[in-house]
Amino acid sequence: MAPGVTRAPRPSLSTLTIARELRRDPLALLERVTAECGDIGAFRLGPRRMVLLNSPALVREIYVEHPEDFDRSSYQRRALTPLLGRGLLTSEGALHARQRQMIAPAFHARHIAPWAERMAEIAHRLQAEWPAGAEIDLLSEMNRLTMSIVGQLLLSSGVLREGDLGRAVTTAFAWEMYALTRPLPLPLSVPTPRSLRTRRALHTIRSQLGTIIERRLTSGQRPDDLLSLLLDVRDETDAAMEPRQLYDEIVTLCGAAQETSADAITWALYLLGRHPDVARQVRDEVDAVLGERVLTHADLPELPRSLAVFKETLRLYPPASVILRGALRDTTLGGYRVRRGTIALVSPYLLHRREAVFPDPERFDPNRFTRENERALPKFAFLPFGAGHHVCVGGGLSLMEGQVLVATLAQRSQLEFADATVAHELVVNLRPAAPIRVRVHRRSAQTVAG
Ligand code: HEM
Repeated sequence: MAPGVTRAPRPSLSTLTIARELRRDPLALLERVTAECGDIGAFRLGPRRMVLLNSPALVREIYVEHPEDFDRSSYQRRALTPLLGRGLLTSEGALHARQRQMIAPAFHARHIAPWAERMAEIAHRLQAEWPAGAEIDLLSEMNRLTMSIVGQLLLSSGVLREGDLGRAVTTAFAWEMYALTRPLPLPLSVPTPRSLRTRRALHTIRSQLGTIIERRLTSGQRPDDLLSLLLDVRDETDAAMEPRQLYDEIVTLCGAAQETSADAITWALYLLGRHPDVARQVRDEVDAVLGERVLTHADLPELPRSLAVFKETLRLYPPASVILRGALRDTTLGGYRVRRGTIALVSPYLLHRREAVFPDPERFDPNRFTRENERALPKFAFLPFGAGHHVCVGGGLSLMEGQVLVATLAQRSQLEFADATVAHELVVNLRPAAPIRVRVHRRSAQTVAG
């Protein structure tokens, strides 16, 4: 450690207050740390040292300039490994590099382009199930929608949409949140009601997904989905992915892809409901480009408003609102001392609210993401998919999905919102804290003018 390196600023909060606030409202706590400490603030959660980084320069430092000093953190691994095994989200080093190299090509544009139309069709089928004039719970419908999409995309299967598996995934996520926000969470092996519930959920997930993978392995069938691509991919030594690894990757992809997307599209529709002028612009664009036909990948460049709405949603409500890293050795960040074992937190939620980059940051303004304006943003200022070698492997797919769903839902439905604001809460992802109930009106591009 260089002599003279100082400790990062600390907030004036007791350890007890920090532990309580982190459980109650983690983002409010981080906002308070930033307000008191500025771009970098250090605090403790029980025995753990934490450091919050809140500037594009510090993000660059940790993700790009010396990523070798940090890993995903034992703290995060402890919460995720029981659910995801050693998939991309939980692996490091050589295993992560090998897996990333094998998996990333499956997300290249040539593989994902046909999915634009399939996503649009799935969204149209869901909308057709909504009785005209009925009230729906937006988040639970968007969960059904993204479960269908992820099930088809990964496995060509409707199994994720069915009740058991959906509930099991929710239970597993609740445990993850518990493990991430307690100083010393009890491991799953201690038979508390919470652990028993989670173990039952993991059993359901394992047996249902395991059966699908096994059947595919033995049948030799290769429908057009990610599982087929991952079955056929080979590493540098021409070896296929081992079945156990394949299972961990599929569970990881389900976990990473489904709820993040459901939350994001729910927030996008909510924001459109609160901004009828923007909703009208989206409808006008969709009517002019698509009329009543089903969207295809070739239409996407003609639907910039839908994409800008989705990106502005990710700015205000980034599903991954806090990203964790663990310091592997004593190091420095922003010139301050960071000890080995410290958890470094980067919060896209806070970064996206920096007044200097996003003036009037609470205002919903998709114009921030016109092509020109987006190009002018500083690097590492907009971070919904993270950065560095763990950057979201499904980022391109997610943006396409968001654009397709914003457009397709506006094409066939008009949602009537109660005029109420909805608070958010961090439950692994950033979700609405209360159900958002909306009334569905069907529309047809030819007959509804705005
Ligand atoms: C709106 C939707 C999504 C958001 C906001 C999101 C966000 C993120 C973020 C912030 C990370 C980096 C985590 C870190 O650095 O520790 C990440 C990683 C990851 N995401 Fe996403 N994601 C989304 C959708 C998806 C989809 C659709 C997939 C796949 C089908 C996916 C698969 C993954 C995987 C496998 C990783 C780990 C990558 C690695 O470590 O190499 N995500 N995601």
